[in-house]
Amino acid sequence: MLKKIVCLGCALLGAGMLRGAEPITGTAATGWEIRTAGSLYRLTVDPKDNIVKSEFLGPLSLDARPAGGGLPEVPVPEGRRLITRPQVEVTFPDGVRDVELTFESGEIRTIDGRPTLVIRQRDKVYPLRITAYIRPVPELDILEKWVDVHNFGKKEIRVANLLSGTLFLPRDQYKVTTLQGEWGDEFVPETTTLTTGTKTIEVRDHKSYGSSFFTVRPQGDESYTAGPVWFGMLLYSGNWRVDFHKRFSDFVEIQGGINFWDASWQLTPGETLTAPKMLVGYTRSGEEGASQRVSDYVRTELLRPAKREQPRPVVYNSWYATTFDVNETHQYELAKVAKEIGVELFMMDDGWFKGRLDDKAGLGDWTVDKTKFPNGLNSLIEKINALGLDFGIWVEPEMVNPNSDLYRAHPDWIVHYPNRDRGLYRHQSTLNLAREDVYQYLLKSLSDLLSQHNIKYLKWDHNRGLSQPGWPGETPQKQLEMRLRYMNNLYRLLDELRVRFPDVWFENCSSGGGRVDGEMLRRMDINWTSDHTGAISRQFIQYGYLAFMPANTMLGLVTHEDYEGFELSLDYKFNVTMQGVLGIGYDISKWGPEDRALAAEKIALYKAIRPTVQGGKLYRLISPYSGERTALEYVARDGSEAVLMLYNREVLLKEVTAEASASKKLLLRGLEPSARYTAEGYEGTFTGAYLMETGLDWPLGKAFTSRIIRVQRQ
Ligand code: GLA
Repeated sequence: MLKKIVCLGCALLGAGMLRGAEPITGTAATGWEIRTAGSLYRLTVDPKDNIVKSEFLGPLSLDARPAGGGLPEVPVPEGRRLITRPQVEVTFPDGVRDVELTFESGEIRTIDGRPTLVIRQRDKVYPLRITAYIRPVPELDILEKWVDVHNFGKKEIRVANLLSGTLFLPRDQYKVTTLQGEWGDEFVPETTTLTTGTKTIEVRDHKSYGSSFFTVRPQGDESYTAGPVWFGMLLYSGNWRVDFHKRFSDFVEIQGGINFWDASWQLTPGETLTAPKMLVGYTRSGEEGASQRVSDYVRTELLRPAKREQPRPVVYNSWYATTFDVNETHQYELAKVAKEIGVELFMMDDGWFKGRLDDKAGLGDWTVDKTKFPNGLNSLIEKINALGLDFGIWVEPEMVNPNSDLYRAHPDWIVHYPNRDRGLYRHQSTLNLAREDVYQYLLKSLSDLLSQHNIKYLKWDHNRGLSQPGWPGETPQKQLEMRLRYMNNLYRLLDELRVRFPDVWFENCSSGGGRVDGEMLRRMDINWTSDHTGAISRQFIQYGYLAFMPANTMLGLVTHEDYEGFELSLDYKFNVTMQGVLGIGYDISKWGPEDRALAAEKIALYKAIRPTVQGGKLYRLISPYSGERTALEYVARDGSEAVLMLYNREVLLKEVTAEASASKKLLLRGLEPSARYTAEGYEGTFTGAYLMETGLDWPLGKAFTSRIIRVQRQ
């Protein structure tokens, strides 16, 4: 039988190295124990039901209790009882829609360099096998969970739902925190009590502005830096969901995976369909510990190895200065000033390609606009390279304007329903990337663009969500696979481009932070965090972003935009933008000597602290959500320095508010207690213990002021 494997969200990545001691022990006869640095997960084959059951994930001390019991590791709709929510739902050819599992085998295999527990169970009667995978990342207290379903029969089986993983919590009262948002207001933390019923966070149009990252804590446990936290995140960029189910006076069950709303899959004979990975974890280091673990996971497990450690360049982006009005002379003017102030890479944003006068035309035709660039792109790129700057460019490959050669030539390539108006958003439609011919077209156009020009940075935008996902000409069943096939081809396209052009940086953009997730970050190096560049809002957006993503993936731009009306200084804007990857978006050709000198000074400072900011461990000391201040601390992995980034917003009138009358000591974290440190702007030296227990006096008095302080080990 022909072997077909469809993996929803897998990467074309080679196997890594096997690390650490044995995190998984046991056999089917004894049950299995999965240990991370601070958590234990136990599974057994239930002798009565002959299915695999798991206990809740918890502290290592769980091993003091006898093993056994628990709930199904892969819950399915079983005729006799519906205690848990189904993770897998199928319809067999005769209309039967429940699954009765029976255990087949369990083994510890090495997958991508790490021991992985692989549990095979099958339906008692029908030719369906469900294999569950648990791949621990012990040093980060994370378990990757996913499943695949395999049809070993002769007829199609319809997959109506295939979630990645299930996690049970002990009986208790909980609150859950997730990151939600909308355009210009991304990654806002929201906390709610889990009451009986289901809380769902989800995406339905392939755009999120939030994240699937979540933390769950026992009610009343308020410390940010300590206490038990269950956490997780789904690795998928299309429609996803995470459900938190609570039964009255009973257990909490968390499930996550692809959102099968408006989707299903016909599993053909011999075919295997694999769900994307879901991360789950447990730590006693509070929400801070959960955030540090997940962002370290992105850094060490997802970011592509060749670019992982490489410092991200200081970028200039032309969008805020020129919008669509780009030409060789002005871009070169901007590049000269960019070079003068210390920028390393010049990025020409939207507007450069055929017919692109505004957002009503051009998307789809990825060749240069000859009226704007009569000498072609290479003339500009060569001049920019001669300045000593790398060159980058903007594309939005998944979209198409009706006013484009591509649309006119291939109206059938557009996602649409027949007999319905082809509704446009931002004057654009979506290309049906589920189609092979569309995939091949994009691979060729982008490969031509990248091979014919010395482009070192590609900003990949995605401004429209996926709606009206019709695929005229295909069967209704196949059309329901469109959203899934689209994502698979998007991953395939990015994977192939990465292989062909390994030196190119990829920036992930979706009208700001509309598609920020782990699988994009496996393929892209940097995220455009938000279209909102105001330095007050950015403190909130960036704080949310840094709850689950590493700072070396967070691009910011210092721009003239001042939507908030605060008239912030250039210095303040730079200090906010330095929290991640620094970029500039002003029309710098209009800057006088003073602004240029200040920018040069700030960029030089950024380059000096860049290894610690981009590569260090982040402690979010003061949340902007808690008052008028923000404080972040980045600690170099070798402990040699810490960088403090401190901000005031409004002034705190003495004793007037609770915040104003509260302590103004800034307690540092992550230092060596007995080492001695200097702190810029403070006299003398301090021990790490002093800085962490007594702390520094808050150095900012005035409104809208900020400081970057280097704390160096002696
Ligand atoms: C989106 C992006 C912006 C910019 C414009 C160009 O809105 O988020 O950064 O690239 O598109 O059209």
